[in-house]
Amino acid sequence: MSIRTEAADRTRTRAAISREEAVLAHNYHPLPVVVAEAAGAWVTDVDGHRYLDLLAGYSALNFGHGHPRLLAAAREQLAKVTLTSRAFHNDRLGPFAAKLAALAGMDLVLPMNTGAEAVETGVKVARRWAYEVKGVPADRATIVVAAGNFHGRTTTIVSFSTDPQARAGFGPFTPGFTVVPYDDLPALEAVVDEHTAAVLIEPVQGEAGVVVPADGYLAGVRRICTERQALFVADEIQSGLGRTGTTFACERAGVRPDVYLLGKALGGGIVPLSAVLADRAVLGLLQPGEHGSTFGGNPLAAAVGEAVVDLLGTGEYQARARRLGAVLREGLDAMIGDGVTAVRSAGAWAGIDIDPALATGRHICAALAGRGVLVKDTHGSTIRMAPPLVATDDDLRWALDQLREVLATCRATAARPGPVSAGG
Ligand SMILES: Cc1ncc(COP(=O)(O)O)c(C=O)c1O
Repeated sequence: MSIRTEAADRTRTRAAISREEAVLAHNYHPLPVVVAEAAGAWVTDVDGHRYLDLLAGYSALNFGHGHPRLLAAAREQLAKVTLTSRAFHNDRLGPFAAKLAALAGMDLVLPMNTGAEAVETGVKVARRWAYEVKGVPADRATIVVAAGNFHGRTTTIVSFSTDPQARAGFGPFTPGFTVVPYDDLPALEAVVDEHTAAVLIEPVQGEAGVVVPADGYLAGVRRICTERQALFVADEIQSGLGRTGTTFACERAGVRPDVYLLGKALGGGIVPLSAVLADRAVLGLLQPGEHGSTFGGNPLAAAVGEAVVDLLGTGEYQARARRLGAVLREGLDAMIGDGVTAVRSAGAWAGIDIDPALATGRHICAALAGRGVLVKDTHGSTIRMAPPLVATDDDLRWALDQLREVLATCRATAARPGPVSAGG
């Protein structure tokens, strides 16, 4: 775990970044780290430097990089058949869907690829249910969402984002969405009515900075949806599949939604794989030809997805998330007042607010990368930590030491006149 300095050799890194910048659209602003290899919780860059990956692909890598059982499932399937399209059946989709449905306690599964596609599918299914079951007049269905949401990047999804950066210049927007504040039951109660098809929320808001609602919020959402005959659609694309210490974050609150949206870790960090799960009364409304995707449910993704469900079935990763979460929380709470203003966490997932007078989130992330820890900022002065669930307690303690030292450097520099250095 060597600590790098700016003087460390970064020749290949610089060359790789200029090659990318010449031809890539700038829709991302990556940290200057060029990953070439990875195993477990660690990645290695093109110049041979190692980093602990505490972003874990926004929780797509809950099982770490190259988990042996997931790689074996992928390799075995690669040699057989990888894509059929749903024009035909394949022998992997049925077993995967059966195990996933059992894991979630839902009747049916609709496989897609990306998270945004699962959300789009959830929106379509909820509207269909509103018209066919609830009796909402044609084209009058609404979906209630929460401020601060992140559900993906399609034009319909950004139509109900409250992040100006996600929307600017992409209108006109899709109608039919009502935004209420997150974690505010009276506000929700005031808008769910006879036209409401669904309430679509993240049980923990990830991109917003790991915003964990108050105890009772998810149960309240469940109650309002049941009383007003609206579907509770839980976007567990980032919060689900072990991250918060239970298979689903809704489980922590003892709540069963009507629809689960899953993605990210479902593909084991190997393939894009998402899914919508619901009972027959909801997903059973779709008929052949009304919705689909060429790659949705392909045999390669299904083989990996089945192996992911098997891993989750052991309970080991949920337990790891709880243990890592305790280490994370203890270490971060001790930094409050020393450059950290607030910490929110759910299992092995933390949002850390950095004192904006000290540094931006981006600055802290750059300094941590210089010390071999990869994390990502969000909304100015917040950073997120989501270790792969295969990380060890010692990995995490070491990373927390790095954060403590970066904050100490920032404090020392801020106390002196002159510009704040990049630290690390
Ligand atoms: C809660 C949630 N929903 C949906 C998405 C979109 O997933 P994807 O990027 O795979 O389209 C994300 C991605 O971060 C997410 O966090």
